[in-house]
Amino acid sequence: MPRLDGKVVLLSGGASGIGAATARLVVGEGGKAVLADRDEAKGRALAEALGAAAHFVPLDVVQEPSWQAAVAATTEKFGALHGLLNAAGVGVRNTIEDCTLEEYRRINDINSLGTFLGCKSAIGAMKEAGGGSIVNISSVLGLRGAAHAMAYSASKGAVRTLTKNVALHCAQMKYNIRCNSVHPGYIDTPMIAPRLEQNAGNMTGRQSLEELHPLGRLGRAEEVAHMILFLLSNESTFSTGSEFVCDGGLTA
Ligand SMILES: NC(=O)c1ccc[n+]([C@@H]2O[C@H](COP(=O)([O-])OP(=O)(O)OC[C@H]3O[C@@H](n4cnc5c(N)ncnc54)[C@H](O)[C@@H]3O)[C@@H](O)[C@H]2O)c1
Repeated sequence: MPRLDGKVVLLSGGASGIGAATARLVVGEGGKAVLADRDEAKGRALAEALGAAAHFVPLDVVQEPSWQAAVAATTEKFGALHGLLNAAGVGVRNTIEDCTLEEYRRINDINSLGTFLGCKSAIGAMKEAGGGSIVNISSVLGLRGAAHAMAYSASKGAVRTLTKNVALHCAQMKYNIRCNSVHPGYIDTPMIAPRLEQNAGNMTGRQSLEELHPLGRLGRAEEVAHMILFLLSNESTFSTGSEFVCDGGLTA
C-alpha cells in the first residue's frame, strides 16, 4: 500500500526546494498535495505537472486570512486535511550589530510567525479529520547559534520550541495530532544559491559549505523530503514534539 494512501497534505513553500520535493513524494505515495506559496507561477506550474492529485493555492504565510483561505480551499478540494508541512522560509545573513529592526521582524515573521499561523489554522480541520501530522522545518541553525545568520537562527530556534508546545497541547487534548520539527543542514535549493556563488579565499562558496558536512557534500531536497514523508505517514505515530536532524553529520 502507498505510504500516504488517501492523506491530504497542505504544504507551505510547496513551489520550490524542500516543499516541492515533498509535494512530489506525497503524490507518488498515494496522497493529495496542496501546494501553497507566494510564488504563484512556480506553484501553479508544479501542481499542473503533478496532475489531479495536486492543487495550488496562493499563500502569504504572514497573513492569517491567507492561511484560513488555504485550509478552506484544501478541505473543499480534497475533503479533509491530514498533514501540514510548514516549509515556507527565507534565509538572510546578518549579525546582531548590522541587522535592522525591520529585517529582524521580516525574517521572524516569515519563518516563525508564519509557522505559528500555519499550525493554528490547520488544527481545526485536522480535528475534524480525526487527527493529523504537522511537520515544521527548522534548521541546524535552530539547534545552535550562528553569529553570521543571527535573525535566521533566532527564528528557527523559535520554530523548534513552538513545535514542542503544539505537540504537547495536542497530546494533552487527545486530538491525535502530532507535531515534529525537521533540522536540515545546507541543502542545494534556490535558497542557498547566492551563498554558493560567494567565493572565499581559494575556495568556492559551494566548497566552503560542503566542507561543513562530514559527509563532504550538500544535502538534496529529496533527502529531507523522505524524512518529512516518514513524519507525515503512519510509520511515525509514536513521534511527537521531537527534532529530526538531516545534516550529513554537521551537528554530530
Ligand atoms: N536550503 C537549506 O540549506 C535549508 C537549510 C535548513 C533549513 N531550510 C529551511 O527549509 C525551508 C524550505 O527552504 P528551501 O531550501 O526549500 O528554500 P526555497 O527558497 O527553495 O523555498 C522556499 C519557498 O518559500 C516560499 N515563501 C517564502 N516566503 C513566503 C511567504 N511569506 N509566504 C508563502 N511562501 C513563501 C518561497 O516562495 C519558496 O517557494 C525553509 O524554511 C528554510 O529555512 C533550508
